[in-house]
Amino acid sequence: MSTVRYTHGHHESVLRSHRTRTAENSAGYLLHHLRSGLDVLDVGSGPGTITAELAELVAPGTMTAVENTDAALDLTRAELTARGIGNASFAVADVQALSFDDDTFDVVHAHQVLQHLGDPVGALREMGRVCRPGGIVAVRDADYRAFSWFPEVPELDEWLALYRAVARSNGAEPDAGRRLLSWALAAGFDPGQIEPTASVWLYADPAGRADWGGMWADRVLASSFADQAVASGRAGRDDLQRISDAWRRWAAAPDGWLLVPHGELVIRVA
Ligand SMILES: C[S@@+](CC[C@H](N)C(=O)[O-])C[C@H]1O[C@@H](n2cnc3c(N)ncnc32)[C@H](O)[C@@H]1O
Repeated sequence: MSTVRYTHGHHESVLRSHRTRTAENSAGYLLHHLRSGLDVLDVGSGPGTITAELAELVAPGTMTAVENTDAALDLTRAELTARGIGNASFAVADVQALSFDDDTFDVVHAHQVLQHLGDPVGALREMGRVCRPGGIVAVRDADYRAFSWFPEVPELDEWLALYRAVARSNGAEPDAGRRLLSWALAAGFDPGQIEPTASVWLYADPAGRADWGGMWADRVLASSFADQAVASGRAGRDDLQRISDAWRRWAAAPDGWLLVPHGELVIRVA
């Protein structure tokens, strides 16, 4: 098992972004497979906004949320508790070595998790192991290299190169979306049982630009990613300030446009 550092960390600017996620904007490809009574495992549940909605959709089936640290799991627990979700339980585990028996869940879900792992193929195998025959493994990951934006701001090219370098130095794969199918095949899933799809997040209205641009403007200055960029010698604090200012300029542009493409798989487990 390969354990790598989680590039984003759980700084407030990161959580602010992750908390805008809903089942509809981040797990739409999965929703038509869900129904009341299913038992779902959500690995890498993080701030838990998607987890909470999936839990509501399958109740009185169960939601089990997994994170690899107590601190991260507390974030999920707090969100589900605040929403009064009564069908959830919580466990600390590494997705690459889950602490559940074979064939335990109907749906095993991971959103934006495989891109942070050293062994995404092993993780998919493990997700398949705990999934009941006939159940579903569902994964969705962004593809950083395929991000596109307008206006062309050179500092945002710097930001993307920096992010991808830092993530790779952690042993992770930021361009995960395009690799999901390859990873699923390497994990041994039946190619005839894999349904690949893609969807995007678009930030092109004032509120969306303010959220995304403001989030990255903060995040490049103060977050686990910022600390790693500086500690590794890949950027100085002045570089990060320039990139942060550029995100604010982009967010203020009335014609600002940013597209985040994602790969998605629904895998029917044999
Ligand atoms: C980008 S966040 C996604 C959180 C949530 N799924 C969402 O989309 O809002 C990735 C999450 O995966 C968790 N994670 C990273 N490595 C993990 C591992 N090996 N096992 C379980 N969770 C892990 C991180 O702690 C983090 O909360």
